[in-house]
Amino acid sequence: MEPFYAPLFEALLKHVAEAPVGFHVPGHHSGQAMNLDLPVNEQTAHPSEYFHKIMQLDVTELSTTDDLHHPEASIQEAQQLAAKTFGADETYFLVGGSTSGNLALLLTLCEPDDIVIVQRNVHKSVLNGLRLSGAKAVFLSPRIDKETGLALVPTLGQVEDALASYPEAKAVFLSNPNYYGMGVSLSSYVEAAHRYNVPILVDEAHGAHYGFHEAFPNSSLSEGVDAVVQSAHKTLPTLTMGALLHVQGNRIPLNSLRESLAMIQSSSPSFPILASIDISRAMIDTLGPTLFDQSLRAVGSFRSWLRNQGTTLCEAQYDADTASVLQVDPLRVVLYDSSGQRSGFELQKLLEQHGCFAEMADPIYVVLVFGIQTSMQDINKLQQAIETISNSSRGTEQWPKGLDQHSMTDGFEWTSVQPVSFKKTAFKNKAIQRIPIQLAEGRLSAEMITPYPPGIAILYPGEKITAVMVNYIQYLSDAGAKFQGAIDPSLATISIFAEKADLPT
Ligand SMILES: Cc1ncc(COP(=O)(O)O)c(C=O)c1O
Repeated sequence: MEPFYAPLFEALLKHVAEAPVGFHVPGHHSGQAMNLDLPVNEQTAHPSEYFHKIMQLDVTELSTTDDLHHPEASIQEAQQLAAKTFGADETYFLVGGSTSGNLALLLTLCEPDDIVIVQRNVHKSVLNGLRLSGAKAVFLSPRIDKETGLALVPTLGQVEDALASYPEAKAVFLSNPNYYGMGVSLSSYVEAAHRYNVPILVDEAHGAHYGFHEAFPNSSLSEGVDAVVQSAHKTLPTLTMGALLHVQGNRIPLNSLRESLAMIQSSSPSFPILASIDISRAMIDTLGPTLFDQSLRAVGSFRSWLRNQGTTLCEAQYDADTASVLQVDPLRVVLYDSSGQRSGFELQKLLEQHGCFAEMADPIYVVLVFGIQTSMQDINKLQQAIETISNSSRGTEQWPKGLDQHSMTDGFEWTSVQPVSFKKTAFKNKAIQRIPIQLAEGRLSAEMITPYPPGIAILYPGEKITAVMVNYIQYLSDAGAKFQGAIDPSLATISIFAEKADLPT
């Protein structure tokens, strides 16, 4: 077993041990500012009880710490160690989640009007990166699993065709695995992109743990992608917002990438977040695959209980075509009510009533993420909840009213015939109107519509609203989906770009 060594964490501890007097930001001064008498009631803990220790680590750029935007000491060493562990040439710590990595990559590679080949069902941060850079997207429809309606990366053939049509593309941008833990091997996609000397970028937000246990799929870095973004905070023991951007090869201009990262991220990044990324890497180095053993055992035991118990809640089954290429994350369980009586949103609520909080839900499925160190006690609680829900759900009203996710998404027109411009000026001076969603077919959306989670924008500003999309939005809304950033959260109305005929003369 390698010794536990986290240089950034150690630098912070050393600084604290010297008990320095700080005449610098942040304003809490190592937590001192919180040590005041507060009239908290009996149920409320004094904030310093929780924050005191973490605030000691929450320092600024000092000679004893380092500077994320100009790393020369502990951050530099921590990033170099991470690059070695994850198999990258260069690794950058991110304090703005994978969001900041996706934005920075697109800003680095694209000038206005440059073309990027993009899987359409990407996280909104990728679309926002296109908007910030003013690039043009050649969108590719995802491959849809016929059994579940869940979306994977586009097929290799789609990517090859797009590369043949747009060999001048600045990048191919894919998202793998998806929120449900479903992914494919990317090595053939890498070969295809590199045949044209086009870099391939992967949003691997949900796969920071990939490659670190034989039960997990390979990481996309090990399959040769040029740049990868990973939300370390999603699947490793990292504080929320802690993420990683890895680069290999010579297709990504590093100076420009550093400049983009400095534009996108705070000039005062959080040291507790940075140190927690360093600690996660050190835990992987020290413990190796055993870091994940307990959770894998727990989830294995849960899966066999689920299969043998005959509850109405079952794990999603994929069609044979998908199954032949699918690589699943064993630490995610995608559940649905096989009796068709409970939507995914309802299952999520019921689980919460029994003290079990799921990662996300959609109209059909609920997604459980098993973190590192999930215990058998956690599993017992989950099993009890499922048993109770399963027993009580028998005989309730049929849901979701004969519709399944696949029939709803089947007619999505997600492949762009022409590259789509994300330049700000594309809709400059266009008047915006709000209209009932039922009347929106054929109009151009003036807002981004993003069910959250999973955060995949189903409409972007300027996208034509099809009849299928109108139905899908109503379906999601009826089922209880939340839409992040929608001007009318109920989605009874939507903003569209007005046409001449709409405007008063
Ligand atoms: C596929 C995907 N990419 C990127 C992100 C953004 O990640 P973060 O929350 O780390 O910014 C998410 C968030 O859920 C995601 O699901």
